[in-house]
Amino acid sequence: MVISEDTRAAIDSECAKYPQKRGGLLPAMHLVQKQLGHIAPETAVELAEIFDIRPVEVMEVLTFYNMFFSAPRGRHNVYVCTNLPCALRGSRTLLAQIESHLGIAAGETTEDGRISLGHEECLGACAYAPMLRVDETYHENLDLEKANQILDGLE
Ligand code: FES
Repeated sequence: MVISEDTRAAIDSECAKYPQKRGGLLPAMHLVQKQLGHIAPETAVELAEIFDIRPVEVMEVLTFYNMFFSAPRGRHNVYVCTNLPCALRGSRTLLAQIESHLGIAAGETTEDGRISLGHEECLGACAYAPMLRVDETYHENLDLEKANQILDGLE
């Protein structure tokens, strides 16, 4: 059992807000990921038991939303938006430059476990393209120098 008693209690509290228990699945997944850093397939089985649903139903949610991770990640999740407005303002070139700066490709994690890099669809900040997200924080109107400063400042 990897989901802690504290997390289980927080899940119960979330579920109490919904008319049907399974309505609390998304908040529960956020709580589990906050505790463990990711939701491994074995953890999805535990979650399914809590919600009395099939593990595949948890896996469907886990693989649908890109804010959930099924494997360990770096300490920071960095996503460059590569959708059209950002791409028109150079985000794909920026992503390639960041890949080169970090020595990893999108989808990979730096050897020191500091940064997991990825690209993302529109984050709703098109007017400030190109942009990237570091964990929950948006950084906008970027060029390579600004992006590198941000990335190099991450612990
Ligand atoms: S296209 Fe990048 S934020 Fe919308």
